[in-house]
Amino acid sequence: QELKLSLEQIEKGGYEHFMLKEIFEQPKSVHDTMRGRLLVDEGIIKMAGIWDHIEKFKNANRIIIIACGTSWHAGLIGEYLIEEYARIPVEVEYASEFRYRNPIITDKDVVIAISQSGETADTMAALKLAKEKGAFIYGICNVVDSSIARITDAGSYTHAGPEIGVASTKAFTAQLTILTLIAFKLGKHNGNLGNAEFMSLISELEAIPKKIEEVLNTTHELTQNIAKDFINATNFLYLGRGYNYPAALEGALKLKEISYIHAEGYPAAEMKHGPIALIDENMPIVIIAPKKGHYDKIVSNVQEIKARKGKVIAVVNKGDEQVSAMADYVIEIPVTSECFSPIVASVPLQLLAYYIAVYRGANVDQPRNLAKSVTVE
Ligand code: AGP
Repeated sequence: QELKLSLEQIEKGGYEHFMLKEIFEQPKSVHDTMRGRLLVDEGIIKMAGIWDHIEKFKNANRIIIIACGTSWHAGLIGEYLIEEYARIPVEVEYASEFRYRNPIITDKDVVIAISQSGETADTMAALKLAKEKGAFIYGICNVVDSSIARITDAGSYTHAGPEIGVASTKAFTAQLTILTLIAFKLGKHNGNLGNAEFMSLISELEAIPKKIEEVLNTTHELTQNIAKDFINATNFLYLGRGYNYPAALEGALKLKEISYIHAEGYPAAEMKHGPIALIDENMPIVIIAPKKGHYDKIVSNVQEIKARKGKVIAVVNKGDEQVSAMADYVIEIPVTSECFSPIVASVPLQLLAYYIAVYRGANVDQPRNLAKSVTVE
């Protein structure tokens, strides 16, 4: 027993929980996921899985992304990325819905499954169905040689390293990295992404691990202090627009699964179609509001919240003035192009969820009722 305990301590590398260790590994895991693929000096993205089947992607009627949980959130951001930069229509579906609704799939479809474990039963079954119907199936998995990695026609591994905490953190940002690389590669190849923009985007992508590191340094203590004020919260709303709408969904999922506080993510503009009724002085609202991406609209959303006395925790860019002036708590992140902002913005949201859960005495690495990989329906 003692030996087992000390081995676990060693594995945690000095961190109190695997989740915290994995949050802090993200500069490295994102970098490892790009390594050997993103060759900025040569101006290329090297991905054999895509390149060997480039005609399939080029001639695809559409790309369907299937996944569950956090991986599904990554898929939603993948839709924004691939549609914006490669102009290929993308649909994103929960694997559990897709497999049972008799979907229309043809041999002109490319189906991408995203799964950290590569063992999720619903994702596996949905892939098998797509394969039977003739689609080309592609996997984005973290676990090497997992069932999904083996059944797919091709794929790209996220090189995030083993993720032990049940709450996915570094696998999520690695999935976003792969989806970004795929979108840029396809866009460059099919001519929708011009060379100058491609070059500027890939140089910026290369610098993302540094920005994650900066965010870890500047928000670690801050998120602990904010967390202390919300230990007794019973509800949370997470809002974002564009690329940061799925980031809001992911922030809410992180909080609910480890702290057991009810949390919902919404596109910020949907607030007035229902959730605004919930807002009063007891409702904390995390709002992701970077400068690039619908900023003015977010400013009005924050005004609407403050008029109803909601408590605003705003994730903004360094030097932000308008949203910061209205917010009760401000978390600053560096400026990035909109498409990279979910990677950077997710980090303080992971830390916030982590510390709220820790202060509530929850078992963050193994939350109740949850398993790391869901191998049954
Ligand atoms: C994430 O924090 C969750 N524990 C869960 O939603 C997870 O992302 C989901 O079960 C999918 O797992 P997979 O990526 O291994 O397929």
